[in-house]
Amino acid sequence: MKKVLIIGGNGFIGSNLSNCLIKHKYEVYSFDIQLPRLKVDDVNYIVGDFFDDECLEKAITGMDVIIHSLSTVNPGNSNERFMQGYSRDFVQSVKLFDMCIKKNIKVIFLSSGGTVYGIQDEQPIKETALPAPINHYGAVKLCIENVMRTFNIQLHTKMLIARISNPYGPGQDFHKGVGFVDASLKKTLRNETIEIWGDGNVVRDYIYIEDVCEMLCSLIEYDGDEEVFNLSSNEGMSLNDIIEEIKLLGLNPNVVYKPARSVDVPKVILDNSKIMKVHSMKIRTFREGLKLFYHHLVK
Ligand SMILES: NC(=O)c1ccc[n+]([C@@H]2O[C@H](COP(=O)([O-])OP(=O)(O)OC[C@H]3O[C@@H](n4cnc5c(N)ncnc54)[C@H](O)[C@@H]3O)[C@@H](O)[C@H]2O)c1
Repeated sequence: MKKVLIIGGNGFIGSNLSNCLIKHKYEVYSFDIQLPRLKVDDVNYIVGDFFDDECLEKAITGMDVIIHSLSTVNPGNSNERFMQGYSRDFVQSVKLFDMCIKKNIKVIFLSSGGTVYGIQDEQPIKETALPAPINHYGAVKLCIENVMRTFNIQLHTKMLIARISNPYGPGQDFHKGVGFVDASLKKTLRNETIEIWGDGNVVRDYIYIEDVCEMLCSLIEYDGDEEVFNLSSNEGMSLNDIIEEIKLLGLNPNVVYKPARSVDVPKVILDNSKIMKVHSMKIRTFREGLKLFYHHLVK
């Protein structure tokens, strides 16, 4: 039984991943600054601060795999808090990688497919595209990725980069600054107005959270030479398309359009052919995922 520790394990992705790892019979450890509201049987909770070196080193000791699932900045606030991203998240991630290399622990880093590539003409975007982030959140992720790449070249380690597109589903909280599907569905259910920045034609690649977690489980067992994977649906949806899909559930969303933000790239669809060679399970369509999420919210 492999021991897997998720850093930021009680967050949106971390908590869903814990459930998925348990299903696949891993021994799961969740390292987080706080305990979750609802504990899951079989998850070992470790309360600690990622930025406390001693505490971090103690938590990772004896683990087989570390999933780095923590960021203290998001796409919306990173242009104000950019120094926090570089001086804290970036530096501490490098320290974590150094610790893991010395202890021979496999690392998977959750990067952001929605922001590292920036504006790209060719869509769906392949992992080989030259990344050009337009916000500091994406730039911090890319800095962390580059250090991993250098370690992999210098020390022949096999640290993996998972560039996740736009996950949605149970456990997401749009108040944290990301999650249009979460916001629009919850606001519709509460009869609140949905705010769209721009004309609603911004296109993203939305993927149901359970599919992301299954892909991450496949990467735990991956031992090939690839370093970076898009974890995505390969399907583009505009914000307006999502509103239409919500209407198809029999709901009545109320939308107001506001001026576009400079942090938003117009179109991001991520090519998922590489991960689909490693991950054999069929992934959900947007309509299937939205329906599951809706039923989860109203049950
Ligand atoms: N959610 C997305 O849309 C998305 C998309 C692509 C990549 N990612 C990346 O995936 C990772 C996880 O995202 P998420 O949406 O689950 O985030 P989240 O904010 O829901 O979870 C992060 C967790 O980290 C914990 N945490 C914060 N500071 C800590 C500290 N100092 N020490 C220990 N724990 C601390 C929080 O308590 C929280 O439980 C992040 O790196 C994020 O950038 C997220």
